[in-house]
This record gives sequence, structure tokens and C-alpha cells, in this order.
Amino acid sequence: MILVLGGSGLLGSAILKHLQRQRYPARVLTRGMGDWRTSNIPILKQQGTEVVVGDMTDPNVLTRAISGCTAVIHAGGSFFQSNPDVMKSVHLDVVGDLTRIAELGGVQRFIHVSCLGASEHSLSTMMQYKWEAEQLVRDAPFYWTIVRPSYFYGASFPFLNALLPILKLKPVIPVPGSGLSEIEPVFVDDVANVIVQSLYNRGSVSKVYEIGGPVTYTILEFIDLVKDFMKIKTPLMHIPSDSADKTAKVFGKIVKNVHTDLIGLLSVDSSCKQEEQELPAQLSGLTLEEHLGAIIQNL
Ligand SMILES: NC(=O)c1ccc[n+]([C@@H]2O[C@H](COP(=O)([O-])OP(=O)(O)OC[C@H]3O[C@@H](n4cnc5c(N)ncnc54)[C@H](OP(=O)(O)O)[C@@H]3O)[C@@H](O)[C@H]2O)c1
Repeated sequence: MILVLGGSGLLGSAILKHLQRQRYPARVLTRGMGDWRTSNIPILKQQGTEVVVGDMTDPNVLTRAISGCTAVIHAGGSFFQSNPDVMKSVHLDVVGDLTRIAELGGVQRFIHVSCLGASEHSLSTMMQYKWEAEQLVRDAPFYWTIVRPSYFYGASFPFLNALLPILKLKPVIPVPGSGLSEIEPVFVDDVANVIVQSLYNRGSVSKVYEIGGPVTYTILEFIDLVKDFMKIKTPLMHIPSDSADKTAKVFGKIVKNVHTDLIGLLSVDSSCKQEEQELPAQLSGLTLEEHLGAIIQNL
């Protein structure tokens, strides 16, 4: 049995589809939020997926979810958090509990979803947590693989959702820092495919896979692209991210209401840095521009 943490999320749902295609038995941990009409649980069950209901920040729930599983794919924890404590809890503390409980439970294979840009000294707190979490996984005794995707999209694009309140500001759209950090939006199905193809691939053990889309955008280029698609004419204004002046403070407040770490995330690269790597699956080569119109219509 394979436990998928985050199996109801954007990436987790795509992972489940690939697991189902290969007829791998899967179990999902979900908080099962929403009322009974909109609950995701019946759909998951109809698909033949086992469901454990609970919160992954509770070690007892993790123990119950891991029981009987030989493999864990950790794709849980929303990328965009507006509460700093929740951010640390889901991106770092959970991984500490999870690696300990997985070891006790006899899990052999562990695939961990991190982020491109995870780094010890990152300007983004979340990227620091992601880096610390990677170290916990590397130190664990099971066969691990770490997957580091750039921002991914499918029917939705969470990175765009996080930026949207800023793009709608008037009379100027504030951009923190230089706006020259790089992102490589990648189709979520490509990330899921790499994860599932890694699962029983010996060559994937102890590997860190970087996964970016075929086009690299600076934040400025990305904002311009979205402005074009959304027919937004508002000009951009650069705000030094470390400036103490009044405008920067106001901007900081607006951004923090949107996402506790957005300034940090917009200031760091989310692009592939490894010179050469052989992924266990080929990427589709699909570009964000092919999907952006539909994503924006769904907003
Ligand atoms: N989105 C991106 O562009 C991006 C880029 C790079 C890396 N990542 C990483 O990829 C992973 C998945 O991201 P995503 O965008 O697919 O996430 P998502 O769509 O926001 O889904 C989050 C998933 O995590 C689960 N979850 C969150 N908190 C939980 C809790 N306390 N207990 C149990 N389950 C919990 C949710 O389950 P329920 O709501 O059903 O409980 C849901 O399945 C995250 O680790 C994220 O950091 C994301």
C-alpha cells in the first residue's frame, strides 16, 4: 500500500491518477473538509482509493495512516500559507514526525516533494523550511527520492492565485525587489509522472530531481504575460523589498495578508540549477502559455 499525503491536492490528485493507471494500491490522508455535498471523500473512494481522515500535524493520525504501507509519497501541505505557524508546521514539523513514524512503521520507500529554490540561507522562510525538511529525509534510513518542482499548474495555477490580489491593485502594481528572479512553471502531470515513475526505480534512490517547465520567466516577464492575457494596463512599480520607507511598509502589509512569505518567494529563483540530470520520465514540453487562457477563465 502506498500512502499519498496531499492526495486530494493539485499535485496529489495527479499522482493518484498515475498510480491508478499502474494499478498501484493507494491510500490518501485528507482532513476531508467541506460539507457532505462537496466532500472529496466519496470521489476518492469511488476511484478505489483508501481514505484516512485526519490532520497530518497529529502524529497519531500519521501512525494510523502509515500502518500497513511500504511506501509514502509526501505531497501534502499547501504551498501558499498566510499563517506563519501553519507554514512551519506543515512544511517542516510534519516531516520530522513523518520520517520517524515511517521508520518505526517499516516504510521502505519515501518520495518527498520539496521545491526548486529550497535553500538553507534563502530569503524565503518557506524555502528554508523546505531545505531543512530535505535534510530530515536524507538522514532517514529508508530509500528516499526528493523531487523539487518549480511552480506547477493544471486546471489552476496556485502561484498566479497568490499574485492575483497584487495584480489587481491600482494605480500601480508593486513588484518587490528587482523582479528578475526566475520561475519555470511546469505542468502538474509532468511532476506527478516523474514521482510515480521514480517509485520502483532503483536508479531514483537517493536522487534529488529538479523539475521545471520548458520556458524560464523572470517575475517581471511572468507578470507582463499575465497582464497581457488579463488585459490589465496598470503600470508596474518596483519596491525595494528591504526598504524601510512608508511605501515599502504598506506594500509589505498588503503582501503579508496575501501570503506570509510572498516577498521572500518572489525574491528567490525557482528554476533548475543542476547541470545534468536524467529524470525517470520524459517531460511533456507543454508550456504555460498553452494553458494560461483556460486557467484565467477558471479564476
Ligand atoms: N503549488 C505549487 O506550485 C508548488 C510548487 C512546488 C512545490 N509545491 C509543494 O507541493 C506540495 C503540494 O502542493 P499543492 O499545490 O498540490 O497543494 P494543494 O493543492 O494546496 O493541496 C494541499 C494538500 O495537502 C493536504 N493538507 C494540507 N494541510 C494538511 C493537514 N494539516 N493535514 C492533512 N492534509 C493536509 C490537503 O489535504 P486536505 O485539504 O484534503 O486535507 C491537500 O491534499 C506541497 O508540499 C507544496 O509545498 C507546490
